[in-house]
Amino acid sequence: MQFDRPATTNPIDQLKVVGQPIPRIDGQLKTTGRAMYAYEWHDPKMPYAYGYPVGAAIAKGRIKSMDASAAKKAPGVIAVVTTLDVGDLKKGKFNNAKLFGGDEIEHYHQAIAVVVAQTFEQARSAAALIKVDYTKEKGAFDLRQEMRAAVKPEKQFDEPDTAVGDFDGAFKAAPVTLDESYATPDQSHAMMEPHASIAAWDGDELTVWTSSQMIDWWRTDLATTVAIDKEKIHLMSPFIGGGFGGKLYLRADPVLAAFAAKAAERPVKVALPRPLVMNNTTHRPATIQRIRIGAERDGKITAIAHESWSGDLHGSRLEGAVAQTRLLYAGANRMTAMRLATLDLPEGNDMRAPGEAPGLMALEIAIDEMAEKIGIDPIEFRIINDTQVDPEKPERPFSHRDLVGCLKLGADRFGWSERRRPGSKREGNWLIGIGVSAAFRNNLVLASGARVRLDKDGIITVETDMTDIGTGSYTIIAQTAAEMMGVTVDKVGVRLGDSRFPVSAGSGGQFGANSSTSGVYAACVKLREAITQKLGFNSDDVSFENGTVRSDNRSVPLTEAAGSEVLIGEDTMTWGDLTKTHQQSTFGAHFVEVGVDVATGESRIRRMLAVCAAGRILNPITARSQVIGAMTMGAGAALSEELVVDTRRGFFVNHDLAGYEVAVHADIPHQEVIFMDETDPMSSPMKAKGVGELGICGVSAAIANAVYNATGVRVRHYPITLDKLIGGLPDAA
Ligand code: MOS
Repeated sequence: MQFDRPATTNPIDQLKVVGQPIPRIDGQLKTTGRAMYAYEWHDPKMPYAYGYPVGAAIAKGRIKSMDASAAKKAPGVIAVVTTLDVGDLKKGKFNNAKLFGGDEIEHYHQAIAVVVAQTFEQARSAAALIKVDYTKEKGAFDLRQEMRAAVKPEKQFDEPDTAVGDFDGAFKAAPVTLDESYATPDQSHAMMEPHASIAAWDGDELTVWTSSQMIDWWRTDLATTVAIDKEKIHLMSPFIGGGFGGKLYLRADPVLAAFAAKAAERPVKVALPRPLVMNNTTHRPATIQRIRIGAERDGKITAIAHESWSGDLHGSRLEGAVAQTRLLYAGANRMTAMRLATLDLPEGNDMRAPGEAPGLMALEIAIDEMAEKIGIDPIEFRIINDTQVDPEKPERPFSHRDLVGCLKLGADRFGWSERRRPGSKREGNWLIGIGVSAAFRNNLVLASGARVRLDKDGIITVETDMTDIGTGSYTIIAQTAAEMMGVTVDKVGVRLGDSRFPVSAGSGGQFGANSSTSGVYAACVKLREAITQKLGFNSDDVSFENGTVRSDNRSVPLTEAAGSEVLIGEDTMTWGDLTKTHQQSTFGAHFVEVGVDVATGESRIRRMLAVCAAGRILNPITARSQVIGAMTMGAGAALSEELVVDTRRGFFVNHDLAGYEVAVHADIPHQEVIFMDETDPMSSPMKAKGVGELGICGVSAAIANAVYNATGVRVRHYPITLDKLIGGLPDAA
C-alpha cells in the first residue's frame, strides 16, 4: 500500500484499542525475567562457549604482530581469533568504521581479537595474555583544533548549507543582535544492555541472536562483513535493552561471535564488556556551534544564522545540528552551514534525535538570550516568530504545527507567571529558577512491512522484523491489529525482531511507531480482504467488530471465519510525496525548575514538564514513558554527560558508567508529560507521528535557561557542571 493522499476516516479512528492506555503486553515477560535478551539466549541442545573481545590499545596505526600463544594455552581456552587471522574484511553499507579484520587500527578499542573459552572468566583471563606490537601513527583528536581545517562535505542525510535572502545585510541592520558560540560534548548512548550476540553455525548457515534496532540492515551488513550470502543468515533480536541509535548499525559483537563460533566449532556468545562499549562502538559527536540572530525591537526575527562544526573518522558523518534552525522560527534572511573535521576518535554517529538534540541545546539558549536582550518574555518571543510554513521554502506548509499551543498550555500548567528576574529567588542555600525551550523533531517515515494471520481459533498473529527497543512496539502493534480486525488485544499475538518476518522500518529516528503500525495497518487491510473474500461478503459494507465479521444481515464470528485454514494478509506500507509537499515535524515545549546551591554550584532539577504535539498518540502509557526517558536523557546531557577526550592518546577516558554520569532517579524528582489532543492525517493512516525523540529535543536548553534564571550565570558549554557556575555565584552568606 502506498500512502500518498491525506488519510480519511478508517477503522483506526474508532479508537476502541488504539489510543487507549494499554499496559505493555510484554511487561510480564520482562518483569519476571522471561524475556530473553541476546546474551541470555539458551538452547540446551546447543551448549555454547564464551567469547571475550579484545580492543586495540592505540587510536591510529597498524598492528605489527600479535602473539596469542600464551592465550591459546591458558586453561579452558578453545580458540583465539585475531584480526590478523581473518584478514581484511569488507565494511557493511552502513558502517563507517571497520569492525574487525586486518592490521589497520582506525580508532581506540577497535576489536582486534576474540578469545573463546569454556567459561567467561577463562576467556577474560586468557584475553589479557595476548601480546600486541603496534606501529603508532599520529592522529587528530581535538575538535577545537581541527575545526579550522573542517570542510563542507558532500550532501549526506542533510544538506550542509542553506541560505535565503541576505543574512549579512539584515544582521547588520538589525537593532538587536546576538552572536554567540555554544559547545556540546561527545556523548555516549549508555544503553542499559551492552551490545551482545550469540552466533551458531549449521554448515554454511549462520544463526545470530543479537541486540539490534534494525534487523535487515544488520543482516545485510553482517553478510557483507562475514562474506556469506545474506539468505544464509538468520538474525533474531526479539528483546533489546535500549539502543538510542547505538544499535542502528552493525557492531563488532556479531562479527566476532560469527568468527569465534566457526573457529570453536560450537555456538559462541560475545558481549562487549561495558568499558569497551564507549570506544568500540559509536557516540554522539561533539559540536561547536555559532548562532547569530538579528531582530526588531518588537521581537520579530529578521536574520538568523546557525553554523555547526563536528568531526568524524575519515571525515565521514556530519552531526546535523542546524536541522531545527531551518524550520523552527520565521525570519526572512537566514543561513545555515555545517562543517566536518576529520578526527581519529571512535566513530561518531546517530544518537537519539541526531541533529536536533545537540542543535536545540544551542539554539534554545540563544533564543532565551535574545528574548532577554529585546526585553520580552521568552515564550512571547517564540510565539511572535512562529511560522506555519517552512521558512526556507514558504510554498511548503507544515502538515500540522502547534508549537504555540504547547508553549501556552505548558506556561499555564507549570506556573510560568511565577518566573522572577535572574538570580532573584532564593530558598535558604538554593537559588531557584525556571526555564523554557521549544521542542522540535522532524517526523520521518520509512517503508514497513508486516504479515498478519488469522487462525482457526480466531487468534490474530502479527509478524514483522520490527524491533522493540523498550519503546512499546509489541503493544502498539497489537493495538493496531486489534483495532483493524475488531478484536481485543488479548486475541493478538505479536512476533518481532526476526529476519524471517517481513522487513519493517525498524527502530530509529522516532520513525518506528508510526511507520511500523502503518505497515501492520496495510497487512490487516489485506487480511480483511482475504476474510471478506473467503466468506463471500460484499466488501463495500463489511465491518469487523467485537470479534465478528458483518455484512448486510450476515455475521460470522472471527473464530469461524478461517475455517480449518490459516488466512494471511501481508503488505508493506510505502510513502508517496506528502513528506515533500508538506513539512512533517513534531513540536513541544519543555519547562524546568532547578535549584542551584549557592555555595557549591551544584544544580538540582526540581520539576520538569513536557507538552508534546506529535499527532495521534497510539498509547499514552508507552508514549509517556518514551518522553519521560527522553527528558531524563536530556537532563544528563545538560548537567553531567560528557565523554572526556584524551587529546594526546585519542580516546574517551571515562568509558564506564562510573565516569560517564547519566541521570538517575535521584536526579529527577518530578516529571509530567501532556500530549496535545491532535491527529495528523498527512503522516499516515494512523495519523500518528514520532514522539520518542521529541522528548529529548530542547530539554537540555530548558535546564540551561533555568540555571541562568536561578543564578544569572549563562553557561554555553555543556555539561553545566559546578565549575562553570561557581565563579559567578553570589556569596553564600
Ligand atoms: Mo535513533 S538515533 O535513530 O535510535
